[in-house]
Amino acid sequence: MTTLTDYLAQHSQSANINHVIGDISRVAIQINHLLRQGALADIQGEAGNQNVQGEEQKKLDVIANDLLMDALTQNTACAGVASEEMDNAVAANAGGALLALFDPLDGSSNIDINMPVGTIFSILPYNNQGHTATDADFLQAGTAQLAAGYVLYGTSTVMALTLGNGVAMFSLDTQSNQFVLIQQNISIDADTKEYAVNASNYRHWLPAMQRYVDELVAGKTGARGKDYNMRWVAAMVGDVHRILCRGGVFSYPFDTKDPNKAGKLRLMYEANPMALLIEQAGGKATDATQRILDITPISIHQRVPVVLGAKNEVDYIKQLHEAAQ
Ligand code: F6P
Repeated sequence: MTTLTDYLAQHSQSANINHVIGDISRVAIQINHLLRQGALADIQGEAGNQNVQGEEQKKLDVIANDLLMDALTQNTACAGVASEEMDNAVAANAGGALLALFDPLDGSSNIDINMPVGTIFSILPYNNQGHTATDADFLQAGTAQLAAGYVLYGTSTVMALTLGNGVAMFSLDTQSNQFVLIQQNISIDADTKEYAVNASNYRHWLPAMQRYVDELVAGKTGARGKDYNMRWVAAMVGDVHRILCRGGVFSYPFDTKDPNKAGKLRLMYEANPMALLIEQAGGKATDATQRILDITPISIHQRVPVVLGAKNEVDYIKQLHEAAQ
């Protein structure tokens, strides 16, 4: 049996990264415990506030955010912490070598209906050691990430982790309260017959995306010559996890529903960590045409269209978008 701690000792050269991932995993175990208590822990429902994105905060969003903030701002390796739920980054220990970003509870509208949710995290280097970290220090392209992952609170609780050299998965052993290695060197097939997209946005998409989904829906009778299946968890963590387990393609594409939003998902703590995991498993992640990890962020809460998963499918979507330009 290899625990997460063993795995980090064997695969990571950085005590700082191990320290931060150790804290994230301990908080994830606390969040898991609260989720399993459900209505009994009085953590469901609205907290009565809106986050920086103007979304209603669920009680557990707020609790998960506070738990992660408390742990990471006290972590000596962390110079700063940024969260989906906070307007600005929070400076931690100026001597720290790392910056941590997270979405404490992705897919939180799933909480009250007993469906999967997750915690997503990304770890960046801190290049201004000795000085108080500010938002500007976080604005590094996804290629700079030193580690990234998520914890999916599903039928079991699973962590997917990359240290930039492949993807490993750990399952939470609720007897010993430890994450235990269940799979390494995860690899996504280049082709797939499964896609994930919120098709209710169809009329707001670009023609290239409409054409792509039209072709999938046409199945054997259309240009792709094979039938496709569709799945939508409504929590990106769940959809990405399915792709790491059995392949597929996921998209939250550009849409014109809200002219102020280039896409729905957040670059720095949703798209970037997921893109690193997907690439490390042999898949691809783009905004339809450009590699997500190459995008230079201009703000912490920036949104981006996302297309990720099976390499050939992501390439085909890119081809359709480029042909339409
Ligand atoms: O906020 C992000 C998110 O909850 C993702 O986890 C998920 O993929 C998406 O939004 C769901 O969006 P929609 O409610 O439009 O289906």
